[in-house]
Amino acid sequence: MTTNKQITLEVRPAGFPKESDFRLVEAPVPTPGPGQFLVQSLYLSVDPYMRGRMNAAKSYAPPVELGGVMVGGVVGQVVESHHPRFAAGETVEGYFGWQQYALSDGVGARKVDPSLAPISTALGVLGMPALTAYFGLLEIGKPQPGETVVVSGAAGAVGSLVGQIAKIQGCRVVGIAGTDEKARYVVEELGFDSAFNYKSARNYRAKLKTLCPQGIDVYFDNVGGAITDAVIPLLNVRARLVICGQISQYNLERPEMGPRWLWALIVKQARAEGFLVFQFADRFEEGIRQMAQWLKEGKLKYRENIIEGLENAPRAFIGMLKGENIGKQLVKVADA
Ligand SMILES: NC(=O)c1ccc[n+]([C@@H]2O[C@H](COP(=O)([O-])OP(=O)(O)OC[C@H]3O[C@@H](n4cnc5c(N)ncnc54)[C@H](OP(=O)(O)O)[C@@H]3O)[C@@H](O)[C@H]2O)c1
Repeated sequence: MTTNKQITLEVRPAGFPKESDFRLVEAPVPTPGPGQFLVQSLYLSVDPYMRGRMNAAKSYAPPVELGGVMVGGVVGQVVESHHPRFAAGETVEGYFGWQQYALSDGVGARKVDPSLAPISTALGVLGMPALTAYFGLLEIGKPQPGETVVVSGAAGAVGSLVGQIAKIQGCRVVGIAGTDEKARYVVEELGFDSAFNYKSARNYRAKLKTLCPQGIDVYFDNVGGAITDAVIPLLNVRARLVICGQISQYNLERPEMGPRWLWALIVKQARAEGFLVFQFADRFEEGIRQMAQWLKEGKLKYRENIIEGLENAPRAFIGMLKGENIGKQLVKVADA
């Protein structure tokens, strides 16, 4: 344990990122000072928000510096600690970045209970994507039994959980995803009522009209663009649009025009609201407790797509942006 492999941001991409935008470097393993601990990464999460951090512009968080270690959620093990709350040997989750070892002062880090589920789930079904699905759907979407909920990005980390939580609430759920296999997965394995592959559908609106004969009460939007444009005219009176993500826009060199459908919100007295999962930070424990309970009761299913090796994190990230994942995309950095 003398060298620390890290993945840094080498080039700010224009359009779709490439593996050459990243660089694998080696640095000495740091030594924790007073109030710090050293963590060894075991699993690394790759997420759509990281694309925004590669740009120079500040969004809700500052960009990654050129030459800086890429940001990212990690599950790891404390190897040495001078921190009062974290002890050597404990499993922790935090934003430790794309590297084998990181120092932490404990801010934003939490302990992971390995008896609940495999520790990798702290980045998925029992982590940030789960909290996004839970609070976004229940607090912004406010689904009622019998209502129709449409979710885009349906087979991904967030979308796959949104649809299942909506089913638990007694809703009718329609998913939109990018392959036939994904559409089958969300219906046959996750219990959605129906789903379609947007890449082979000729007319999204006609397809949605057939699959949502009662109209749409809640739209959980992970993708934006033409899919969202097709949903809007089918909204019911007092519908709720949960604006969670706009992944169809993240890699465009020039933004698409739109939306041109705000009139529909007037006519339908509908509400569109964007949110950030972190606005619910004071209720994260509640969210994880409920997701763990549903998992234990067999009401939630999940998949992880795991690529081995820190050096493959750029490939995993780009693959996720292209839709190669079903469920949560992870990188396994080391054995537990
Ligand atoms: N607001 C928040 O606090 C918050 C927190 C977490 C995530 N998010 C957002 O939630 C969304 C899902 O995140 P996730 O972590 O669960 O990722 P994910 O769904 O597991 O992976 C991304 C998926 O996006 C789909 N995709 C890629 N390009 C697309 C396009 N042009 N049109 C439609 N779909 C496309 C791909 O699936 P297909 O095969 O279906 O195309 C891909 O698998 C993202 O937009 C993310 O930014 C928001």
